Amino acid sequence: MGKYTLPKMPYAYDALEPHIDARTMEIHHTKHHQKYTDMMNVALEKCSNDIQNKDIKEILSDLSQVPAEVKGAINFNGGGYDNHELFWNNMKPNGGGEPGGALADAIKASFGSFADFKEQFSSKTAPIQGSGWGWLVYNPSSSKVEYIAMSNQTSPRTKGMVPLMGLDVWEHAYYLKYQNKRPDYIAAWWNVVNWDEVDSRLSKAK
Ligand SMILES: [Fe+2]
Repeated sequence: MGKYTLPKMPYAYDALEPHIDARTMEIHHTKHHQKYTDMMNVALEKCSNDIQNKDIKEILSDLSQVPAEVKGAINFNGGGYDNHELFWNNMKPNGGGEPGGALADAIKASFGSFADFKEQFSSKTAPIQGSGWGWLVYNPSSSKVEYIAMSNQTSPRTKGMVPLMGLDVWEHAYYLKYQNKRPDYIAAWWNVVNWDEVDSRLSKAK
């Protein structure tokens, strides 16, 4: 067994119904997330012990430290491994609503209001070309929260950002239920956001 193992889901596959269907969640976790995990382990075998012993966050934050021949594979599969673990946990059954506390204040400071943030996040994530993610991140250099769109599985960590909340808009995340209607998936997804988890990530990032 390699260093990385598929993280356990924090809830049942059908727990996010009707917003995200059980079959999509099961395939997404047991096939897609598993594949990123397995391929990250393959790529790590070509790395020094020093790299192998590092946390995924440290690796993704500085990809110049990994051998050139596996840099692309680690960007993709390490990102996929980390992004999906974040994604499962920034959702929960009976989620949604609005954040409170420091997260609410940070969102207001950066976006004007929660409604403006939600609109901007949705309208920037829906048109991502091909496969990618929309992210709310914490930018350590400005000490503010920001929106960032990332292609494929590239982690916001590669840009020095701390991921707080990610939305996977790869077709594998929604196609069985929503087909080509990505905006409908995004609209439904707000009902399962786990704001407590996002707020907790923000306090750890500061
Ligand atoms: Fe995914």
